[in-house]
Amino acid sequence: MVASPADIERAAQLRRELEGHDHAYYVLDAPTVPDAEYDRLFRELEALERTRPELLSSDSPTQRVGGKAMPGLVPVRHAVPMLSIRTETDTTSGGVAAFDTRVRNALELGPDGAPVEYLGELKFDGLAISLRYENGVLVRAATRGDGETGEDVTHNVRTIRQIPLKLHGKAPPLIEVRGEIYMRRDAFEQLNARQLDAGEKVFVNPRNAAAGAVRQLDPRIAAKRPLSFFAYGFGETAGWDLPATQGEMLDALARFGIPVCEHRVVALGPGALVAFHDRIADMRDSLPYDIDGVVYKVNRFDLQRRLGFVTREPRWAVAHKYPAQEEITQLLDIWISVGRTGALTPIARLKPVFVGGVTVTNATLHNEDEIARKGVLICDQVIVRRAGDVIPEVVGPVVERRTGGERPFVMPGTCPICGSHAQKQSDEAVTRCTGGLFCPAQRKQALLHFAGRRAMDIEGLGDKLVDQLVEGGIVRTPADVYKLGLVKLANLPRMADKSAANLLAAIEKSRHTTLARFIFALGIRNVGEATAKDLARYFGSLDTLMDADVERLQQVPDVGPIVAQSIAGFFAEAHNREVIEQLRAAGVTWEEGAPAVPASGAASGKTFVLTGTLPTLGRDDAKELIESHGGKVSGSVSKKTDYVVAGADAGSKLAKAEALGLAILDEDGLRRVLQNGA
Ligand code: IVH
Repeated sequence: MVASPADIERAAQLRRELEGHDHAYYVLDAPTVPDAEYDRLFRELEALERTRPELLSSDSPTQRVGGKAMPGLVPVRHAVPMLSIRTETDTTSGGVAAFDTRVRNALELGPDGAPVEYLGELKFDGLAISLRYENGVLVRAATRGDGETGEDVTHNVRTIRQIPLKLHGKAPPLIEVRGEIYMRRDAFEQLNARQLDAGEKVFVNPRNAAAGAVRQLDPRIAAKRPLSFFAYGFGETAGWDLPATQGEMLDALARFGIPVCEHRVVALGPGALVAFHDRIADMRDSLPYDIDGVVYKVNRFDLQRRLGFVTREPRWAVAHKYPAQEEITQLLDIWISVGRTGALTPIARLKPVFVGGVTVTNATLHNEDEIARKGVLICDQVIVRRAGDVIPEVVGPVVERRTGGERPFVMPGTCPICGSHAQKQSDEAVTRCTGGLFCPAQRKQALLHFAGRRAMDIEGLGDKLVDQLVEGGIVRTPADVYKLGLVKLANLPRMADKSAANLLAAIEKSRHTTLARFIFALGIRNVGEATAKDLARYFGSLDTLMDADVERLQQVPDVGPIVAQSIAGFFAEAHNREVIEQLRAAGVTWEEGAPAVPASGAASGKTFVLTGTLPTLGRDDAKELIESHGGKVSGSVSKKTDYVVAGADAGSKLAKAEALGLAILDEDGLRRVLQNGA
């Protein structure tokens, strides 16, 4: 077939793309596309060049083996080349059978002879490395490079704790251990979390994070990234009494103190290899590191030698890959999910994509900040990763694929479920719905909290019953609890007359409670039992609490700006006020008292700092006295401090107050201020 102009153009385009990806991957250590995508482009070019050979040129990416050397690292020539293994494209048992047949034919075993003994190993997804030990001492570590020449990365490999600097036992004069440096998934997650915090780029996958660390000039970078190693072979050796099989060779390396993966089996014949393949596929998700497949090797070295190599791949080994764990797809939209606690979580709606063995259509984006940090836009082409049992993740956008039609995500100002205000607290990344009592998404949580032992204490209104009541549409807000009747309750599954009557009695009992319990029961964010008590004591009545602004709320001992903001936000939401009205209308009452402090105490709005020992007042007494006059006691001196009350042996706080020119009082002075007004 003759290449058409379209073929010529396509081949050129594929080469340009692949070269760009190669540069990003090998030189910048920042891949732009997932492997699966790269492989597809590569195979398309290969197929094009196969069917239209006139398109083939020596500078095509298909003609290159392995990667480019990183500028700055010293080249190392491998005495024994580091080869790769053939990847079996038929990943069914047919592929294993075909491999076995090729082996048997080459060994002239005939179809009926004894089964060939294989070793099944994992195909680790990391960076191939050769470790050279002379007289048991690690003298050099080199990457694979193009297989003939790699890069000297000894300085970085020395920082990997798992790799012995000195072999155990009686080591041969020379041995090159070959294997894979990789990063565990947990280490990778932690690294990416740290990168995000530091505002630095995140890594697409553990392999790139590991490769990036190993191929650095500065060993401090590798030292900061916890890397691991598994051996799977050897290169040049001298004076080593080589064991007879691959399996025994790995055992020998383990005795030298080299990490060797425990998941390896001696398999007799292809059936046993298929069983190994399937067993590992089942545990792939639960392994603490990424693998991209399994490797089968003829176990006996004498047979390996007889089989030899075709082109640059051994005839005695084959790799079987599992489905890719990263793919590209389009981020169609971002929708908001509202959690039980009212958190608004942006979720990416994805064009369905098969990744990590499942079809993924949604992936959490966690929160607004995370979206900004990842830099994803709606309609972007994004890299999606699903590895292990973990939930799928949007790694980041493929920026080169932008068309201009992408748009940024904007967090909604209201809850998409109930329409209440959505609020983001200054110390949190999360935006939350403020309609705690009203929001359907928060119903179950709100009701359970409301009925809790330390809140309204409705015995018998637990998890299962709340589920039934909410799912049956019988109870929507806490006020509905007080409208429940015997017949409705007794008709619920697993509810008898007796238990229904008991529950009604408990509900009845809860109708009269304390203000503190009632405030706690409302489930206001950041308002625990202790704060609820403080609020009840300070305000005396619910109405005064409901009308207090953020400033006033901060007069309450231990209520800071964040808690004050939560409380004000909660009562500012009309939906919540309505539910409180309904509770009142349903006959819920609580004891109210006079506020502990006159609204305008003599010290109202003033902040005091106590330091040193006062003549008669203990520290707690002084605090109580100030608070009972509407003042607030703070632990540290700042420009916002109104008075510093200093006793004997006052220290640095006094010095700071003097430096700031603040008013300083002794105990008498304090009493005067509290009596006469500040
Ligand atoms: S054996 C001559 N065994 O996969 C055969 N390789 O194409 C040398 N790999 O880059 C390789 N796990 O780094 C072998 N158990 C394993 C492996 C493994 C991962 C990597 C290796 C190489 C590629 C082989």
